[in-house]
Amino acid sequence: MRGLVLSGGKGTRLRPITFTSAKQLLPIANKPVLFYCLEQLAEAGVTDVGIVVGETKAEIREAVGDGSRFGIKATYIEQDSPAGLAHAVMVSEHFLKDDPFIMVLGDNLLRDGVISIVREFHDKPTNCQILLTKVKNPNQFGVAELRDGKVIRLVEKPKEFISDLALVGVYLFDRNVFKAVKAIKPSLRGELEITDAIQWLLTNGYTVRPHLVTGWWKDTGRLEDILEANRMVLDGIEDKHLGKIDERSRVEFKVFLAEGTIVENSVIRGPVAVGPGTRIVDSFVGPFTSIAGGCTIKGVEVEHSIILEGCKIEGAGARIIDSLMGRNVVIRQGDGQPRAYQFMLGDYSGITLP
Ligand code: TTP
Repeated sequence: MRGLVLSGGKGTRLRPITFTSAKQLLPIANKPVLFYCLEQLAEAGVTDVGIVVGETKAEIREAVGDGSRFGIKATYIEQDSPAGLAHAVMVSEHFLKDDPFIMVLGDNLLRDGVISIVREFHDKPTNCQILLTKVKNPNQFGVAELRDGKVIRLVEKPKEFISDLALVGVYLFDRNVFKAVKAIKPSLRGELEITDAIQWLLTNGYTVRPHLVTGWWKDTGRLEDILEANRMVLDGIEDKHLGKIDERSRVEFKVFLAEGTIVENSVIRGPVAVGPGTRIVDSFVGPFTSIAGGCTIKGVEVEHSIILEGCKIEGAGARIIDSLMGRNVVIRQGDGQPRAYQFMLGDYSGITLP
């Protein structure tokens, strides 16, 4: 079985971060979401993996390389425009050939991985297998209606309740899916939708088997979701201190401090992950915070946030919460008059003031 990982797309919901970075490389507990996907495929024995890339192809290629460090062989497949998940399947036909395949979205995180799903599809082949999970707000998802344990219909963001089983971003197909993706038309938002392709399979007499997922699943397409995924992963983080902590500091609960980290006169209350070479001085770092490597955090209170490489945060006036900061962001406390906010923000930046 081959693997197909979708790492193109527009990423409009994560602007301005996605103006400069691929959202699949945003770190969850200091590791890119995409890396979790690749490791999980390798664990399930899926080692021949096509990675669909768009505008951010150079960055994805640089991060993943030939895939050997994840135990896979990576083949890059260019999608010239982000024209939908079914379009991504269509442009991958030359790589997938006649093999059955598992498709995962490169910005989705599945707690329990894909071993049992791959095994089920291998032992009991079918035309398509979809993963479903119960959600509280089905009107925001593509959902599947089941009858007698069989999928009978898929509906994208249903206005009226038909089912609370949402499609998780993992799909398994045999080669009949290529007929489907070629037969469907773009949706109102102009994309070839994978739900339409699966509905086409159902309508044309192919079998679509459901698989209920019990462990959590998270699509990290929006800020709230990334923070939630970060929370879920940090919950299981190892308590390990490879850096230096001075005697005036307290490091409590589960905290992963990478090599070369320095903690001075600060309190870190886990679960927290800190990347290599980061300095935390005169600060409070609260639960569910991931700080990447090479950052300076000085005179700051921060919690429930994700901070990427090279940020310098030296004074903020109030506690920083629920935040995502891109690379090399600088925040500092002004020292003169007037006491005022001074901003230099990229397009689509967001700020909430106290
Ligand atoms: P989405 O998050 O559904 O779409 P998007 O990336 O365009 O984001 P937004 O809605 O915020 O504008 O995509 C799910 C995954 O599939 C993600 O990893 C990007 C990838 N993808 C492709 O590779 N090709 C595509 O044509 C699309 C739409 C998505």
